[in-house]
Amino acid sequence: MTKQHVILIGLMGTGKTTVGQELHKRIAYPWVDTDQALESKWGFSIARYFAQYGEEAFRKEETTILKAILDGPPSIITTGGGIVLRQENCEWMRQKGWVIHLTAHPEVLIQRLSHDQSRPLLLGNVADKIWQLIKERKGKYDFADITIDTSKQTIDGVIQEIIREWQKFKR
Ligand code: S3P
Repeated sequence: MTKQHVILIGLMGTGKTTVGQELHKRIAYPWVDTDQALESKWGFSIARYFAQYGEEAFRKEETTILKAILDGPPSIITTGGGIVLRQENCEWMRQKGWVIHLTAHPEVLIQRLSHDQSRPLLLGNVADKIWQLIKERKGKYDFADITIDTSKQTIDGVIQEIIREWQKFKR
């Protein structure tokens, strides 16, 4: 199957959900978020799932939902930051979608996430946890078709850049 979806990957706090939502207004594709799809399936939050079943079980669920979404109609897909931890997920995403990697300066991530209560992997010292994730996940997002730094421009600028690149890609 060809690259029919537009997929956003990147660390927590890089703006995937905000950008996905805005992009949805500009490209006539449905918008699906892997975390939101899981929460609707379970009827409770990611934080509660992690606390009850742990990260490994979450990763399995994440892979299952990703596969189901990728098998569906062309969509804008926003993903949880850890989706890249499984190689098979990266291969499917690359095969079935045009993949956008969103990045942001570490200080910007820390600022955006410093009061976040919903992300289980950030419990404790947010700055330390973010630096640790940056180190652990170095290179894992590199398979993307394009990379955009969201700390260097406005959301509108990011959207314009994506649309410009998307049009080039579709030609
Ligand atoms: C995670 C990122 C979260 C969510 C879960 C784990 C990660 O999604 O899937 O808390 O491992 O980076 P966001 O990137 O949308 O915050």
